[in-house]
Amino acid sequence: MIYMSVTIGTPLQPSAFKVLLLGSGELGKEVVISLQRLGVEVHAADRYDHAPAMQVAHYSYTLNMADAEELKHLIEKIKPHLIVPEIEAIATQVLVDIEQQNIATVIPSAKAVNLTMNREGIRRLAAEELGLPTSAYRFADSLESFRAACDDIGYPNFVKPVMSSSGKGQSRVKNFDEVDAAWEYAQTGGRVNQGKVIVESQIDFDFEITLLTVRAKNAETGEIETQYCDAIGHRQDSGDYVESWQPQAMTPAALEEAKRIAHKVTTALGGCGIFGVELFVKADQVWFSEVSPRPHDTGLVTLASQFQSEFELHARAILGLPVNTSRHSVAASAVIYAGVDDTNLSFSGLNLALANPNTDLRLFGKPEGFKRRRMGVATARAETTAQARELALETASQVSVQQN
Ligand SMILES: Nc1ncnc2c1ncn2[C@@H]1O[C@H](COP(=O)(O)OP(=O)(O)OP(=O)(O)O)[C@@H](O)[C@H]1O
Ligand SMILES: [Mg+2]
Repeated sequence: MIYMSVTIGTPLQPSAFKVLLLGSGELGKEVVISLQRLGVEVHAADRYDHAPAMQVAHYSYTLNMADAEELKHLIEKIKPHLIVPEIEAIATQVLVDIEQQNIATVIPSAKAVNLTMNREGIRRLAAEELGLPTSAYRFADSLESFRAACDDIGYPNFVKPVMSSSGKGQSRVKNFDEVDAAWEYAQTGGRVNQGKVIVESQIDFDFEITLLTVRAKNAETGEIETQYCDAIGHRQDSGDYVESWQPQAMTPAALEEAKRIAHKVTTALGGCGIFGVELFVKADQVWFSEVSPRPHDTGLVTLASQFQSEFELHARAILGLPVNTSRHSVAASAVIYAGVDDTNLSFSGLNLALANPNTDLRLFGKPEGFKRRRMGVATARAETTAQARELALETASQVSVQQN
């Protein structure tokens, strides 16, 4: 048995343990708060000023993280111990080099970040290398090959740019007549003008879950162990999560299969941290959909349901500290959208929303809102998931967004 001592210095002093967060959204904001509580010095970067996580970090930087030179320059300037990507639109090759040269540790690993930023990388790993069950799929990079791929896969199918997230450029194609329009739409929604898409057969699932999976070191042996949170159920609208709840009831066989899939894919990606493994479930059958090598938006519910939220779990795991994934309550979360395109918004009705002692709110502090931009989240605890969902939705609806 080897005893590993984890040591953290003092922030803003020469002994500081430095973390650089790449992407400073609402999930990053909670990770920063968790890191701050453990005395870590936090540097937050994003493409715009005053992003949520920047507001709680020691230092912040505004830059184009997809630009390799800009990103390299920032890392050389800060000299962080850990680099924690929070978004996918990053010059990931820089992170691969940084890890190879032992300049910093990339969380959870450069391989994980590199593979998951592109749907092709993670899908081929899961289905072809690991043999995990997924929807049938084809890749296409021209209208011609796209038409052929749709014919091969059949209808309805799902089309997604390989470099996209949050439902951008994604559509469900019901028949041949919709094929050309879906191609056009995918071309406008991708992160880069690369043009490649994945066509997936539709899985006829009963429900979909996120299985939060943590790879963290054993306190005594330093061995990385895999632990799971209770399954989170969620509802998506246009490829974007609108509500989530924990636990999601499922059969013991399905749960076992979900863990097997999550273990296999997270082990292959490697490193320490939390992963959001997205799975489709029908009775005892489970399909792998995709995985985030970081906290997952549907996991916001863990702020209300677990002793350690997914953000605390991530902070602990990346620092080499032990974690506790247990749940203390049944809870749900519901998203609060801006509903308007404007800056400098106000949020009212907060007193009513929080009148119930089992509810809570996070308002992210984003300087600009769009109709479908997530500005906050409501959480609620209750006896059953049905009651928790109802209360979370009610709480979210009590918050109204106003223009100034
Ligand atoms: N093959 C499929 N069969 C059935 N439903 C699907 C399929 N692919 C996607 N969906 C539905 O669309 C949602 C979004 O898909 P996916 O997670 O691949 O996109 P995304 O853009 O990465 O979204 P996010 O970033 O919000 O996770 C899924 O959660 C699911 O509800
Ligand atoms: Mg998804």
